[in-house]
Amino acid sequence: MLTGLLIKNIKCLVQVEDTLRLKVCGDDMSELGTINDAFLLLIDGLISNFGKMEDLDFENIFKDNPNIEIIDAAGKMVFPSFCDSHTHIVYAGSREIEYSEKMQGLSYEEIAKNGGGILNSAKLLHNTTEEELFLQSMKRINEIISFGTGAVEIKSGYGLNLNDEVKMLKVIRRIKDTCPVEVKSTFLGAHSVPEPYISNREKYVDLIINEMIPVIASFELADYIDVFCDRGFFSVEDTERILMAGMKYGMRAKLHANELDFSGGVQTGVKYNALSVDHLECTGDEEINLLLGSETMPTILPGSSFFLGMEDAPARKMIGAGLPVALASDYNPGSSPSGNMKLIMSLGCIRLKMLPSEVINAVTINSAYAMGLSETHGSIAKGKVANVFITKEIPSFEFMPYAYGSNLIETVILKGKIIK
Ligand code: NIG
Ligand code: FE
Repeated sequence: MLTGLLIKNIKCLVQVEDTLRLKVCGDDMSELGTINDAFLLLIDGLISNFGKMEDLDFENIFKDNPNIEIIDAAGKMVFPSFCDSHTHIVYAGSREIEYSEKMQGLSYEEIAKNGGGILNSAKLLHNTTEEELFLQSMKRINEIISFGTGAVEIKSGYGLNLNDEVKMLKVIRRIKDTCPVEVKSTFLGAHSVPEPYISNREKYVDLIINEMIPVIASFELADYIDVFCDRGFFSVEDTERILMAGMKYGMRAKLHANELDFSGGVQTGVKYNALSVDHLECTGDEEINLLLGSETMPTILPGSSFFLGMEDAPARKMIGAGLPVALASDYNPGSSPSGNMKLIMSLGCIRLKMLPSEVINAVTINSAYAMGLSETHGSIAKGKVANVFITKEIPSFEFMPYAYGSNLIETVILKGKIIK
């Protein structure tokens, strides 16, 4: 017997597509497909049909599927679930003490140099069991699900040795196997140079290439490979070596690039056909021109530049040049301890000067592309996975980023089932 959900009387169904697109670029980012006074039919975990209420053929739907549950969404809007294409949501403990240090004037790089930052999280993770790490991470996963996220990319990178990286990736796999949210996993062994290798970075890169990647690939623990290619972390040469090693095992690149400097990260990402290059605070004409001729999704993380008090990436310049832009949360304990994608939309508007329609494209279809999911997620289209949320009563879709502190997400539906 088929199971189904019919959402009727929807005030506005947002981000509908009749013709599937893999991503949305440039001026098109300000266009949003919407249907007022709409219905949405979800059957067996997929989007089966949608349209205007006046075209809803009640009798036929119930003849084929007598078990359909009906939700009346009068006054409310329906969006496709958020896709969060860049997170470090699996971590141990928290780093609010560094947060206080930051308030007293220390920079992110200074905190990292003093043994804080990523290395601090690596110590905490080392002393946490896999089970405990899973339980801590699940609290955050449940929170982002309730905030409307339906697909999430999760990186390793707080292990920085074989055992602890594998521990993190196994936790990511357990989340993937047990949660209704769609998960993609990324190996980020090159997140920071661990203490034993501080004065011999090259040796750590050798370890990543010769020991970590082959083991992780043999357990099929990672979809993608990432490197923090930036000043004070990993060089272009390190990055190239690691990407080539990962790509041999089918892991496509997704890079941390150009956050702290014009690091050559974007150039390297484009050269190796990365799925995305992320952060991009330091982006100029050369980077933009290279990205224009590529399949790489420029991904901006406004939560981390906001939290660190840094310059933002030049989103307007990128969109003006014809590029697509994705937005993601970067949820992590050091530079962005939040996975609230609705807040990320607000930051996209307030700080990046993107329009509400542009940020909606950036957190749905374009961020789905940045995690290899835009054929199945990121819009309301027939045959796509039934990941949607119903808002509280709101006057317009612009109200979502505008009301930046309000939780406006009332009902969460993942794979066709009501989760909240
Ligand atoms: O994306 N930039 C590098 N990594 C994270 C920060 C991780 C941390 O501070 O724990 C980021 O911002
Ligand atoms: Fe990150």
